[in-house]
Amino acid sequence: MPVSPSTVRLVNHLDLDYLRSSLENDVRAGLISSPKFLPPRWFYDEAGSDLFSQITRLPEYYPTRRELAILRERAADLAAASGADTLVELGSGTSEKTVLLLDALTEAGTLRCYAPVDVDAVTLAAAAQRLAERHPGLAVRAVCADFERHLRLLPRTGRRMVAFLGGTIGNLEPDARRVFMKELRGTLRPGDTFLLGADLVKDRKRLVAAYDDAAGVTAAFNRNVLHVINRELDADFEPDAFEHVARYDEEHDWIEMRLRASRAMRVRVAALDLDVDFAEGEETRTEISAKFRPGGLRAELDAAGFTVLRWFTDPAEDFSLVLAQA
Ligand SMILES: C[S@@+](CC[C@H](N)C(=O)[O-])C[C@H]1O[C@@H](n2cnc3c(N)ncnc32)[C@H](O)[C@@H]1O
Repeated sequence: MPVSPSTVRLVNHLDLDYLRSSLENDVRAGLISSPKFLPPRWFYDEAGSDLFSQITRLPEYYPTRRELAILRERAADLAAASGADTLVELGSGTSEKTVLLLDALTEAGTLRCYAPVDVDAVTLAAAAQRLAERHPGLAVRAVCADFERHLRLLPRTGRRMVAFLGGTIGNLEPDARRVFMKELRGTLRPGDTFLLGADLVKDRKRLVAAYDDAAGVTAAFNRNVLHVINRELDADFEPDAFEHVARYDEEHDWIEMRLRASRAMRVRVAALDLDVDFAEGEETRTEISAKFRPGGLRAELDAAGFTVLRWFTDPAEDFSLVLAQA
């Protein structure tokens, strides 16, 4: 029987006005606050996504390899347990690991639609095209959206598995995580499932090394947010005047990435008519990456109204992949 060609569609919920006003609001709020902060979603323009892809291949960055190893072993079981015909993936990036899930769902005979969701439209469109070519007959419905604001706009038909891989959940602070999980739970219907990849608490040295690699790729990724602000908001940051800092906060069980001003300086953000003073050594927080303890993660899922169906961990117990249902 001839296989019908795949169809690719991209819906963009992040129009230029929306992107611009949320970047303006985030940058103004973060740079006038004390201590200063910038939200991690602004790392991801095309260059930032490319740097993140490079990070996933670094020897120090174990999460991608661990999650891949779990997926290689368990994708068939996850596909069967979910029975999903639609895979929605939040923060899909280059969708590299997703291929294993798509193959398993195809093998199970259920897959009809893949809906990757990301803030970076360029990387999203390229991944959607690549996967459509690889999976004849698949409807690829890419959605450029913010998973903290647009969960209700995601595809709602079919029996869905919503995948959130790569430990990206750890970029949300505990309150934001609670809201996110509750909202996601509220959008799921009976039969839908949530597949969550979460990085686990482990030896502090390995954690810090994963966010402060010897080749300096994570440092370049961290500074990319300053390039984005320079380009989009006509600012005059000198990215090389900021040092990359990665630190493990034992109280909160999270890695913090920061940018430390190597000298006192004043930065002009022309589009905001804002001058920002940095003291020598002053640090701006750019990302947290929370690490989970199994009991704590289970309790968070429970509190949001999820029931765990499968819980897989790699042999080194570095990373967990959890399938839950509403
Ligand atoms: C840590 S990377 C993980 C990429 C991929 N899922 C993986 O496992 O390798 C985070 C991804 O989420 C996207 N992202 C970050 N914040 C987002 C947001 N608020 N809404 C949608 N996508 C977001 C980024 O563009 C990036 O592709």
